[in-house]
Amino acid sequence: MNVQFARRMENVQPSAIRELLRLGADPSIISFGGGYPDASIFPLEQLNAVYEEAIARNGQISLQYTVSNGIPKLREQIAQRMGRDGMACTAEDVLILQGAQQGLDLTAKLLIDRGDIIITENPTFLGALIAFNPYEPRYATVRIDENGMDMEDLERVLLATKNAKLLYTVPDFQNPTGVTMSEERRRRLIELANRFNLIILEDTPYREIRYQGKSLPTLKSLDTEGRVIFVGSFSKILAPGLRLGWAVASPGIIQKLGLLKLAVDTQCSTLNMTAVSLFLERFDIEQHIRLIRQTYLRKKELMLATIRQTFPQDIRFTDPSGGLFTWLTFPDGFDAAKFMLEQSLPKAKVAYVPGATFFPLKQETNHARVSYSTQQDEIIVKGITALGQLLKSELH
Ligand SMILES: Cc1ncc(COP(=O)(O)O)c(C=O)c1O
Repeated sequence: MNVQFARRMENVQPSAIRELLRLGADPSIISFGGGYPDASIFPLEQLNAVYEEAIARNGQISLQYTVSNGIPKLREQIAQRMGRDGMACTAEDVLILQGAQQGLDLTAKLLIDRGDIIITENPTFLGALIAFNPYEPRYATVRIDENGMDMEDLERVLLATKNAKLLYTVPDFQNPTGVTMSEERRRRLIELANRFNLIILEDTPYREIRYQGKSLPTLKSLDTEGRVIFVGSFSKILAPGLRLGWAVASPGIIQKLGLLKLAVDTQCSTLNMTAVSLFLERFDIEQHIRLIRQTYLRKKELMLATIRQTFPQDIRFTDPSGGLFTWLTFPDGFDAAKFMLEQSLPKAKVAYVPGATFFPLKQETNHARVSYSTQQDEIIVKGITALGQLLKSELH
Protein backbone atom coordinates (compact mmCIF):
# COMPACT_ATOMS: atom_id res chain seq x y z
CA MET A 1 0.00 0.00 0.00
CA ASN A 2 1.19 3.49 -0.79
CA VAL A 3 0.57 5.45 2.41
CA GLN A 4 0.26 9.16 1.79
CA PHE A 5 1.96 10.51 4.86
CA ALA A 6 1.53 14.12 5.88
CA ARG A 7 4.12 16.53 4.53
CA ARG A 8 5.52 17.09 8.02
CA MET A 9 6.71 13.47 8.05
CA GLU A 10 9.45 14.45 5.59
CA ASN A 11 11.21 16.00 8.59
CA VAL A 12 10.62 12.99 10.81
CA GLN A 13 13.41 10.52 10.15
CA PRO A 14 15.13 8.03 12.42
CA SER A 15 18.21 9.80 13.72
CA ALA A 16 21.62 8.47 12.82
CA ILE A 17 22.47 8.00 16.45
CA ARG A 18 19.70 5.49 16.98
CA GLU A 19 21.57 3.09 14.76
CA LEU A 20 24.86 3.82 16.49
CA LEU A 21 23.31 3.42 19.92
CA ARG A 22 21.74 0.15 18.82
CA LEU A 23 25.23 -1.13 18.15
CA GLY A 24 26.16 0.11 21.60
CA ALA A 25 23.33 -1.89 23.21
CA ASP A 26 25.45 -5.07 23.19
CA PRO A 27 26.01 -5.87 26.92
CA SER A 28 29.75 -6.32 26.36
CA ILE A 29 29.96 -2.66 25.21
CA ILE A 30 30.66 0.09 27.75
CA SER A 31 28.31 2.88 26.72
CA PHE A 32 28.92 6.50 27.63
CA GLY A 33 26.23 7.36 25.07
CA GLY A 34 22.84 7.68 26.76
CA GLY A 35 22.15 10.52 29.16
CA TYR A 36 20.69 8.13 31.69
CA PRO A 37 20.84 8.98 35.40
CA ASP A 38 22.63 6.55 37.74
CA ALA A 39 19.84 4.07 38.52
CA SER A 40 21.73 2.74 41.54
CA ILE A 41 20.76 5.90 43.45
CA PHE A 42 17.06 6.00 42.57
CA PRO A 43 15.23 6.36 45.93
CA LEU A 44 13.46 3.02 45.55
CA GLU A 45 12.26 2.49 49.11
CA GLN A 46 10.81 5.95 49.34
CA LEU A 47 9.11 5.68 45.97
CA ASN A 48 7.74 2.28 46.94
CA ALA A 49 6.25 3.82 50.09
CA VAL A 50 4.56 6.70 48.28
CA TYR A 51 3.12 4.48 45.55
CA GLU A 52 1.74 2.16 48.20
CA GLU A 53 0.22 5.10 50.01
CA ALA A 54 -1.19 6.56 46.79
CA ILE A 55 -3.02 3.33 45.97
CA ALA A 56 -3.91 1.91 49.39
CA ARG A 57 -5.10 5.18 50.90
CA ASN A 58 -6.15 7.26 47.92
CA GLY A 59 -6.59 4.76 45.09
CA GLN A 60 -10.04 5.93 44.12
CA ILE A 61 -8.67 9.39 43.48
CA SER A 62 -5.15 8.63 42.34
CA LEU A 63 -6.33 6.15 39.67
CA GLN A 64 -9.06 8.46 38.39
CA TYR A 65 -8.89 11.08 35.62
CA THR A 66 -7.91 14.53 36.82
CA VAL A 67 -7.56 18.06 35.44
CA SER A 68 -5.37 18.32 32.36
CA ASN A 69 -2.97 20.90 33.81
CA GLY A 70 -2.05 18.43 36.58
CA ILE A 71 -3.15 17.78 40.15
CA PRO A 72 -3.35 21.09 42.07
CA LYS A 73 -1.24 19.88 45.01
CA LEU A 74 1.77 19.01 42.85
CA ARG A 75 1.45 22.28 40.92
CA GLU A 76 1.48 24.13 44.21
CA GLN A 77 4.56 22.23 45.43
CA ILE A 78 6.35 23.00 42.16
CA ALA A 79 5.36 26.68 42.41
CA GLN A 80 6.91 26.76 45.90
CA ARG A 81 10.14 25.21 44.64
CA MET A 82 10.20 27.70 41.74
CA GLY A 83 9.75 30.52 44.25
CA ARG A 84 12.80 29.34 46.18
CA ASP A 85 14.73 29.51 42.90
CA GLY A 86 13.80 33.16 42.32
CA MET A 87 10.71 32.61 40.17
CA ALA A 88 7.70 33.77 42.16
CA CYS A 89 4.63 32.01 40.78
CA THR A 90 1.46 30.22 41.83
CA ALA A 91 0.00 26.80 41.02
CA GLU A 92 -2.01 28.49 38.26
CA ASP A 93 1.21 29.34 36.42
CA VAL A 94 2.37 25.70 36.39
CA LEU A 95 1.50 23.08 33.79
CA ILE A 96 2.52 19.49 34.53
CA LEU A 97 4.07 17.77 31.53
CA GLN A 98 4.96 14.30 30.35
CA GLY A 99 8.65 15.11 30.93
CA ALA A 100 10.40 18.25 29.71
CA GLN A 101 10.32 16.69 26.24
CA GLN A 102 6.59 17.37 26.02
CA GLY A 103 7.26 21.03 26.79
CA LEU A 104 9.52 21.23 23.73
CA ASP A 105 6.89 19.65 21.49
CA LEU A 106 3.99 21.74 22.80
CA THR A 107 5.96 24.99 22.58
CA ALA A 108 6.80 24.35 18.94
CA LYS A 109 3.19 23.36 18.26
CA LEU A 110 2.05 26.60 19.91
CA LEU A 111 4.40 28.93 18.04
CA ILE A 112 5.85 27.46 14.89
CA ASP A 113 4.31 27.62 11.45
CA ARG A 114 6.11 26.04 8.52
CA GLY A 115 9.29 27.98 7.73
CA ASP A 116 9.39 29.96 10.98
CA ILE A 117 12.84 30.35 12.43
CA ILE A 118 13.95 28.72 15.66
CA ILE A 119 17.28 29.89 17.05
CA THR A 120 19.35 27.30 18.90
CA GLU A 121 22.77 26.97 20.41
CA ASN A 122 25.27 25.34 18.10
CA PRO A 123 25.43 22.46 19.00
CA THR A 124 22.08 21.85 20.72
CA PHE A 125 20.05 19.06 22.34
CA LEU A 126 19.14 16.51 19.68
CA GLY A 127 15.82 15.71 21.38
CA ALA A 128 14.78 19.34 20.86
CA LEU A 129 15.42 19.09 17.11
CA ILE A 130 13.43 15.85 17.08
CA ALA A 131 10.55 17.62 18.87
CA PHE A 132 10.67 20.72 16.65
CA ASN A 133 11.15 19.10 13.23
CA PRO A 134 7.52 17.97 12.64
CA TYR A 135 6.48 21.64 12.77
CA GLU A 136 8.73 22.30 9.75
CA PRO A 137 10.84 25.13 11.15
CA ARG A 138 14.03 26.58 9.75
CA TYR A 139 16.95 26.87 12.11
CA ALA A 140 19.44 29.61 12.82
CA THR A 141 22.33 28.73 15.10
CA VAL A 142 24.44 30.69 17.54
CA ARG A 143 28.01 29.99 18.58
CA ILE A 144 28.64 28.83 22.13
CA ASP A 145 31.80 28.85 24.22
CA GLU A 146 32.58 28.05 27.85
CA ASN A 147 30.14 30.82 28.93
CA GLY A 148 27.26 29.55 26.83
CA MET A 149 25.54 31.30 23.94
CA ASP A 150 27.61 34.15 22.45
CA MET A 151 25.40 37.25 22.54
CA GLU A 152 27.30 39.12 19.84
CA ASP A 153 26.74 36.24 17.50
CA LEU A 154 23.08 36.11 18.56
CA GLU A 155 22.63 39.79 17.77
CA ARG A 156 24.21 39.24 14.38
CA VAL A 157 21.85 36.32 13.72
CA LEU A 158 18.83 38.34 14.84
CA LEU A 159 19.73 41.24 12.58
CA ALA A 160 20.27 38.87 9.67
CA THR A 161 17.09 36.81 10.15
CA LYS A 162 14.78 39.59 11.43
CA ASN A 163 11.67 37.47 11.98
CA ALA A 164 12.90 34.73 14.31
CA LYS A 165 10.11 33.71 16.68
CA LEU A 166 11.55 31.30 19.18
CA LEU A 167 14.92 30.85 20.83
CA TYR A 168 15.67 27.51 22.48
CA THR A 169 18.37 27.32 25.12
CA VAL A 170 19.67 25.00 27.84
CA PRO A 171 21.43 27.61 29.98
CA ASP A 172 22.58 25.28 32.77
CA PHE A 173 25.03 22.46 31.96
CA GLN A 174 23.92 22.27 28.39
CA ASN A 175 23.29 19.03 26.56
CA PRO A 176 25.58 18.13 24.77
CA THR A 177 28.47 20.41 25.84
CA GLY A 178 28.02 20.76 29.62
CA VAL A 179 28.63 24.54 29.46
CA THR A 180 26.63 27.14 31.43
CA MET A 181 25.51 30.58 30.26
CA SER A 182 27.10 33.38 32.32
CA GLU A 183 24.89 35.79 34.25
CA GLU A 184 25.93 38.70 32.07
CA ARG A 185 24.86 36.83 28.96
CA ARG A 186 21.56 35.84 30.56
CA ARG A 187 20.77 39.51 31.16
CA ARG A 188 21.82 40.41 27.63
CA LEU A 189 19.66 37.62 26.20
CA ILE A 190 16.57 39.04 27.90
CA GLU A 191 17.37 42.50 26.47
CA LEU A 192 17.73 41.06 22.99
CA ALA A 193 14.53 39.03 23.32
CA ASN A 194 12.63 42.16 24.30
CA ARG A 195 14.15 44.14 21.45
CA PHE A 196 13.54 41.49 18.79
CA ASN A 197 10.21 40.17 20.10
CA LEU A 198 11.46 36.64 20.75
CA ILE A 199 9.94 33.93 22.91
CA ILE A 200 12.61 32.07 24.88
CA LEU A 201 12.23 28.40 25.70
CA GLU A 202 14.43 27.80 28.75
CA ASP A 203 15.02 24.06 29.17
CA THR A 204 16.52 23.21 32.56
CA PRO A 205 16.64 19.46 33.33
CA TYR A 206 20.17 19.73 34.79
CA ARG A 207 19.79 23.02 36.65
CA GLU A 208 19.55 21.44 40.10
CA ILE A 209 22.45 19.07 39.46
CA ARG A 210 25.03 21.78 40.16
CA TYR A 211 27.96 20.41 42.12
CA GLN A 212 30.42 23.31 41.84
CA GLY A 213 30.12 27.11 41.88
CA LYS A 214 27.11 29.25 42.62
CA SER A 215 23.74 29.00 41.01
CA LEU A 216 22.93 31.69 38.42
CA PRO A 217 19.52 33.34 37.99
CA THR A 218 17.21 31.60 35.57
CA LEU A 219 16.16 33.48 32.44
CA LYS A 220 12.59 33.23 33.73
CA SER A 221 13.59 35.14 36.88
CA LEU A 222 15.08 37.91 34.71
CA ASP A 223 12.11 37.97 32.33
CA THR A 224 10.53 41.43 32.28
CA GLU A 225 7.84 40.92 29.63
CA GLY A 226 6.56 37.36 30.13
CA ARG A 227 8.46 35.99 27.15
CA VAL A 228 10.23 33.06 28.81
CA ILE A 229 8.70 29.59 28.86
CA PHE A 230 10.55 27.76 31.62
CA VAL A 231 10.61 23.96 31.44
CA GLY A 232 11.75 21.78 34.35
CA SER A 233 11.91 18.03 34.87
CA PHE A 234 11.82 15.36 37.56
CA SER A 235 13.83 13.04 35.31
CA LYS A 236 17.28 13.91 36.62
CA ILE A 237 16.34 14.77 40.23
CA LEU A 238 14.04 11.78 40.82
CA ALA A 239 13.61 9.29 37.96
CA PRO A 240 12.99 9.63 34.21
CA GLY A 241 10.57 6.70 34.07
CA LEU A 242 8.02 8.78 35.98
CA ARG A 243 7.76 10.96 32.86
CA LEU A 244 7.04 14.11 34.79
CA GLY A 245 8.16 17.64 34.08
CA TRP A 246 6.54 21.07 34.20
CA ALA A 247 6.30 24.41 32.45
CA VAL A 248 6.03 27.84 34.03
CA ALA A 249 5.04 30.75 31.79
CA SER A 250 2.80 33.79 31.64
CA PRO A 251 -0.95 33.06 32.01
CA GLY A 252 -1.79 33.50 28.32
CA ILE A 253 0.90 31.03 27.29
CA ILE A 254 0.21 28.44 30.02
CA GLN A 255 -3.46 28.47 29.18
CA LYS A 256 -2.78 27.73 25.50
CA LEU A 257 -0.15 25.10 26.29
CA GLY A 258 -2.75 23.48 28.57
CA LEU A 259 -5.25 23.31 25.70
CA LEU A 260 -2.64 21.61 23.53
CA LYS A 261 -1.75 19.20 26.33
CA LEU A 262 -5.43 18.27 26.68
CA ALA A 263 -5.58 17.50 22.98
CA VAL A 264 -2.43 15.36 23.03
CA ASP A 265 -2.80 13.14 26.08
CA THR A 266 -5.58 14.55 28.32
CA GLN A 267 -3.28 14.66 31.37
CA CYS A 268 -0.22 13.07 32.95
CA SER A 269 -0.70 9.88 34.99
CA THR A 270 -2.72 10.78 38.09
CA LEU A 271 -0.93 8.01 39.98
CA ASN A 272 2.55 9.28 39.12
CA MET A 273 1.63 12.86 39.93
CA THR A 274 0.13 11.77 43.28
CA ALA A 275 3.20 9.67 44.12
CA VAL A 276 5.61 12.52 43.35
CA SER A 277 3.48 14.94 45.33
CA LEU A 278 3.55 12.54 48.30
CA PHE A 279 7.31 12.11 47.85
CA LEU A 280 7.79 15.88 48.09
CA GLU A 281 5.62 15.96 51.19
CA ARG A 282 6.98 12.95 53.06
CA PHE A 283 10.67 13.03 52.12
CA ASP A 284 13.44 15.55 51.65
CA ILE A 285 14.09 15.80 47.90
CA GLU A 286 16.86 18.35 48.54
CA GLN A 287 18.76 15.68 50.47
CA HIS A 288 18.30 13.26 47.59
CA ILE A 289 19.56 15.91 45.15
CA ARG A 290 22.65 16.38 47.34
CA LEU A 291 23.38 12.67 46.93
CA ILE A 292 22.98 12.99 43.14
CA ARG A 293 25.36 15.97 43.08
CA GLN A 294 28.00 14.18 45.15
CA THR A 295 27.74 11.10 42.95
CA TYR A 296 28.08 12.95 39.64
CA LEU A 297 30.86 15.20 40.91
CA ARG A 298 32.85 12.11 41.92
CA LYS A 299 32.20 10.47 38.56
CA LYS A 300 33.05 13.59 36.60
CA GLU A 301 36.36 14.01 38.47
CA LEU A 302 37.14 10.35 37.87
CA MET A 303 36.34 10.54 34.17
CA LEU A 304 38.26 13.77 33.57
CA ALA A 305 41.27 12.53 35.56
CA THR A 306 41.29 9.37 33.42
CA ILE A 307 40.97 11.44 30.25
CA ARG A 308 43.91 13.62 31.34
CA GLN A 309 46.02 10.53 32.00
CA THR A 310 45.16 8.48 28.95
CA PHE A 311 44.00 10.72 26.06
CA PRO A 312 46.32 12.40 23.56
CA GLN A 313 47.01 16.02 24.57
CA ASP A 314 45.35 17.52 21.51
CA ILE A 315 41.87 16.28 22.44
CA ARG A 316 40.00 19.01 24.33
CA PHE A 317 37.17 18.38 26.77
CA THR A 318 34.77 20.54 28.81
CA ASP A 319 34.83 20.52 32.63
CA PRO A 320 31.18 21.09 33.61
CA SER A 321 30.12 22.39 37.04
CA GLY A 322 26.99 20.26 36.89
CA GLY A 323 24.95 17.90 34.76
CA LEU A 324 25.89 14.65 33.09
CA PHE A 325 28.15 15.29 30.10
CA THR A 326 31.58 16.28 28.91
CA TRP A 327 32.06 17.29 25.28
CA LEU A 328 35.17 16.12 23.49
CA THR A 329 36.73 18.05 20.63
CA PHE A 330 39.15 16.09 18.48
CA PRO A 331 41.61 17.62 16.01
CA ASP A 332 40.13 19.04 12.78
CA GLY A 333 39.33 16.38 10.21
CA PHE A 334 38.72 13.64 12.79
CA ASP A 335 35.46 11.75 12.20
CA ALA A 336 34.11 10.65 15.59
CA ALA A 337 31.29 8.55 14.07
CA LYS A 338 33.66 6.64 11.78
CA PHE A 339 36.13 6.14 14.61
CA MET A 340 33.41 4.74 16.83
CA LEU A 341 32.15 2.29 14.21
CA GLU A 342 35.53 1.12 12.98
CA GLN A 343 37.66 1.35 16.10
CA SER A 344 36.13 2.08 19.46
CA LEU A 345 33.17 -0.31 19.24
CA PRO A 346 35.00 -3.35 17.83
CA LYS A 347 38.38 -2.82 19.53
CA ALA A 348 37.81 -0.97 22.82
CA LYS A 349 34.14 -1.98 23.24
CA VAL A 350 33.28 1.62 24.06
CA ALA A 351 30.38 3.75 22.78
CA TYR A 352 29.72 7.50 22.97
CA VAL A 353 27.50 9.82 20.95
CA PRO A 354 29.29 11.21 17.89
CA GLY A 355 28.81 14.98 17.97
CA ALA A 356 27.70 15.70 14.38
CA THR A 357 24.07 14.97 15.10
CA PHE A 358 23.78 17.83 17.63
CA PHE A 359 24.40 20.49 14.96
CA PRO A 360 21.14 21.68 13.35
CA LEU A 361 22.73 23.07 10.17
CA LYS A 362 26.37 22.37 9.43
CA GLN A 363 27.52 19.20 11.11
CA GLU A 364 30.96 19.12 12.70
CA THR A 365 32.37 15.61 12.81
CA ASN A 366 35.21 16.08 15.30
CA HIS A 367 33.22 16.00 18.56
CA ALA A 368 31.67 13.45 20.89
CA ARG A 369 29.33 13.64 23.86
CA VAL A 370 30.41 11.44 26.73
CA SER A 371 28.20 10.86 29.76
CA TYR A 372 29.68 10.08 33.17
CA SER A 373 26.37 9.61 35.00
CA THR A 374 25.35 6.09 34.09
CA GLN A 375 28.37 3.82 34.51
CA GLN A 376 29.90 2.74 37.80
CA ASP A 377 33.34 4.08 38.80
CA GLU A 378 35.52 1.12 37.77
CA ILE A 379 33.75 0.88 34.40
CA ILE A 380 34.38 4.60 33.77
CA VAL A 381 38.12 4.06 34.32
CA LYS A 382 38.20 0.88 32.24
CA GLY A 383 36.24 2.33 29.30
CA ILE A 384 37.98 5.70 29.16
CA THR A 385 41.42 4.08 29.46
CA ALA A 386 40.65 1.70 26.58
CA LEU A 387 39.37 4.61 24.48
CA GLY A 388 42.43 6.70 25.33
CA GLN A 389 44.84 3.95 24.25
CA LEU A 390 43.04 3.54 20.96
CA LEU A 391 42.97 7.30 20.33
CA LYS A 392 46.69 7.51 21.02
CA SER A 393 47.47 4.91 18.40
CA GLU A 394 45.01 6.50 15.94
CA LEU A 395 46.19 10.09 16.31
CA HIS A 396 49.96 9.55 16.59
C1 LIG B 1 18.29 19.28 27.46
C2 LIG B 1 17.22 18.27 27.66
N1 LIG B 1 15.95 18.65 27.57
C3 LIG B 1 14.94 17.78 27.75
C4 LIG B 1 15.19 16.46 28.03
C5 LIG B 1 14.03 15.53 28.18
O1 LIG B 1 13.82 15.28 29.53
P1 LIG B 1 12.54 14.56 30.11
O2 LIG B 1 12.97 13.20 30.54
O3 LIG B 1 12.12 15.42 31.26
O4 LIG B 1 11.50 14.53 29.04
C6 LIG B 1 16.50 16.01 28.14
C7 LIG B 1 16.76 14.60 28.41
O5 LIG B 1 17.83 14.11 28.43
C8 LIG B 1 17.54 16.95 27.95
O6 LIG B 1 18.82 16.60 28.01
